This record gives sequence, C-alpha cells and structure tokens, in this order.
Amino acid sequence: MDNWLDHVTLTEDGSPTLNHPEHQQWFHSKAGAETEAKSLYIDASGVLESFSGKDLHIADVGLGLGYNMIATVEAWLNDPHSKKLKITSFEYDESLWKTIQIPETKLTKMYPSFWFEVCDSKKLRHPNGSAFDWELILGDLTEFDLTSLSGFDFVWHDPFSPDVNEGLWTKDFFTKLNAVVVSDGILMTYSVRRSVRDNLMASGFDVIKIPTTTMKKNWLKAKKL
Ligand SMILES: C[S@@+](CC[C@H](N)C(=O)[O-])C[C@H]1O[C@@H](n2cnc3c(N)ncnc32)[C@H](O)[C@@H]1O
Repeated sequence: MDNWLDHVTLTEDGSPTLNHPEHQQWFHSKAGAETEAKSLYIDASGVLESFSGKDLHIADVGLGLGYNMIATVEAWLNDPHSKKLKITSFEYDESLWKTIQIPETKLTKMYPSFWFEVCDSKKLRHPNGSAFDWELILGDLTEFDLTSLSGFDFVWHDPFSPDVNEGLWTKDFFTKLNAVVVSDGILMTYSVRRSVRDNLMASGFDVIKIPTTTMKKNWLKAKKL
C-alpha cells in the first residue's frame, strides 16, 4: 500500500477507520473504532476487573490502527491499582505500522500522547509504578510459531472477516492459540458466525454470544476450558 492515509475515513463516533483496498473490508464497524474497542474488547471482556488482580498478558491479533491496543492501555492507566501489563500485538502489514508511527497526520493527531512514547520505547510506566511492556510481532501470524509465547490472559481477536482472512479463524489456528492461553483465559471477537463458534469449541473454548452496544446484534466471548 503506497499511502494508507488516502484511505482514512471517519466512523460515527468520530474515530478513524480504513477500507482495505485489496480485501474491500473496513478495519472497524461503522459505529466507530473507539466505540468497538472500548465496548467489545474492554467493557465486555472483564479485563477492567482484572488489571488490579494480577500481572496481565494480552494478545492483540491484528494491530491495525492500534485502537484496541490504545483502549487497553487507556483502561489500564485509569485503574489506580493496575499491576504489570504486557501486550503482544500481531500485524501482517509493515507499511501500515510505519504509517501509524508518523506524528501529526490526520490519523495520528487523534491518538493519545502516550502512543508515541510507546512506539519509541515499547514501554510505559503506570503512575503507580507498574510496568507496561509491548511486543509487536510483524509478519503473518498463521506462520508464526506461537509455542514461543505463553500465558495470554486475554485475546483481542480482530482480523478481517473469515471470508477474506480465513487462516486466523480455523480450528487449527484456534487450537494453537488455545495452547498459549491460560486456563479460564478469555478471547473476544466480533464474529458470531457458526463456523467460528464451531472452530472455537472444537479447539477447547466455551463460547457465548453477548449483546453489543452497536447496530450489530451479537459479539462473541470465548473462555478457555
Ligand atoms: C480489522 S483490522 C484490525 C483493527 C485493529 N485491531 C484496530 O484496533 O485498529 C485487521 C488487521 O489484521 C491484520 N492481519 C490480517 N491477517 C493477518 C495475519 N495473518 N497476521 C497478522 N496480521 C494480520 C491486518 O493487516 C489488519 O491490520
């Protein structure tokens, strides 16, 4: 992609999104990148009740514009009792990652100030002293050896839809993911498609449909059995 910035559009909550020229898919729902990140991945996952309980490790599948990652860090900063947070983000597209690091674009003008601190150092400190650590793994996650990682308490599963991004929704992929999620760990995703639920259940997750805060009827919450 030559210039991702030419593809930036605003969603209904005023936050930006992109249309992927090859997949013809939006990066976020029309309701808003920020709304979806906060409602689905933060509020509905239970992570808000977990920041103060123990150190957390979160997998961010499909960094994209970074909205899920930013919403997670904001929520963690807002809890005065947060313990250590580590996020491991996965992203296929290096040109997109380069784009979201450019300061003062129409895109990154909307990002919180900690974003650039985190981009530079991959680290941040909570006002209470707890550490934040960010690992970004660039490349195709379907080809990545997940066994080199472990201990994910939460997974933000946010690839494109199964129609165009099938490899990240298969039973085989979910089985590999399940192996690096802690017992009772939670995976959140926007797709409630039958095949997605079947593949999650066949790979060792219990799944429930949850109501959304947007026009879409349901999202999915999966728990490792
Ligand atoms: C719907 S967007 C993610 C939006 C993002 N979570 C946000 O908060 O802005 C999907 C992202 O997954 C990435 N992706 C798709 N397939 C991938 C793969 N096999 N490995 C790693 N990243 C992938 C895409 O490049 C894209 O950035």
